[in-house]
Amino acid sequence: MQDRYGHRISYLRVSITDRCNERCTYCMPLELQEWLPREGILTFEETLRLIRIAADLGVSKVRVTGGEPLTRRDVVDFVRRIPEILGIKSIGLSTNGTLLGREIAPGKTMAAALRDAGVQSVNISLDTLDREVYSQITGRDFHRQVLSGIDAAIATGFEQIKLNTVLMRNRNEEQLIPLIEFAGAHDLILRFIEMMPVSTTDVLDENNFVSILETKRSIESFYGTLIPETEFRTNGPATYYQIPGRKQRVGFIGAMTNLHFCENCNKLRLTCDGKLRPCLGSYLEFDIMKPLRAGATDEELRQFFVHVVERKPEQHDFRDNYQPNRRMIAIGG
Ligand code: 5AD
Ligand code: SF4
Repeated sequence: MQDRYGHRISYLRVSITDRCNERCTYCMPLELQEWLPREGILTFEETLRLIRIAADLGVSKVRVTGGEPLTRRDVVDFVRRIPEILGIKSIGLSTNGTLLGREIAPGKTMAAALRDAGVQSVNISLDTLDREVYSQITGRDFHRQVLSGIDAAIATGFEQIKLNTVLMRNRNEEQLIPLIEFAGAHDLILRFIEMMPVSTTDVLDENNFVSILETKRSIESFYGTLIPETEFRTNGPATYYQIPGRKQRVGFIGAMTNLHFCENCNKLRLTCDGKLRPCLGSYLEFDIMKPLRAGATDEELRQFFVHVVERKPEQHDFRDNYQPNRRMIAIGG
């Protein structure tokens, strides 16, 4: 599948729930805290069928997201069925980490069960190492659970574990070095993410927003000039650098300030309520649940996907006229 701008779509992000056990300020504004009704959420069968259709069209990577995907019941059984789909080569999961360390069977953590089910890479949100600040950002006192979730993930031996830090003025500017040291000590990739006006434009207030450029400068004033790693790429739009003098990689995701951000976009999103979104930063979305539940054939659904991809914009709209119309949580980070 290729769009009008030469973006080749190989990556599907699948949100399986809008629910979350946390309340991050940048993701869930207080006024938007109502969940979708259960019948409005795709069943796992429906979701698997859509992944199959996407795989027919060239998608080879799937990332499971939420909300918090691990809050959905039977998530492990769902994940286990993804690698059975012909064409899917890689499965990732994005999580807040709070439930990774939970014992779901005697001696078996959620992390280990996910690994057994075929998850290769896990992205874990970690905005701070300070428990108090963590509670302020997420609205929940789950810092210790997240740290043990990270330990559980490491013990499990995923192919890749990344930590994601959303940059916030007066919240975690002081945490850049501690977070880098933490990631280094655990041999994890850390990525800094510019806040995006996904759920509310308040986050873009100058009092909150911190740019990648500023962040990179403060990191460099501590470690020296970072070494660009132009060869290293994951599936996303991050750019990676090496910390001088050590084998440690940090990434930067600058959706707001990097003008080349969208050039290599290979992504399509499926929301938990059955909308296909060609771009996170655009209001465009297409309801595929409707034809799906009205009995569409595989061929009709394939056409639907192709049609959505044809409408993928050249780049996101965050910088100018973006109107948040959906909570981040209902899109899937
Ligand atoms: N801006 C940037 N990143 C966000 N996330 C959630 N909301 C935002 C936002 N407004 C990220 C969190 C989490 C992932 C699911 O999405 O870092 O890691
Ligand atoms: Fe939950 Fe992640 Fe949103 Fe925080 S950013 S409220 S952990 S979905």
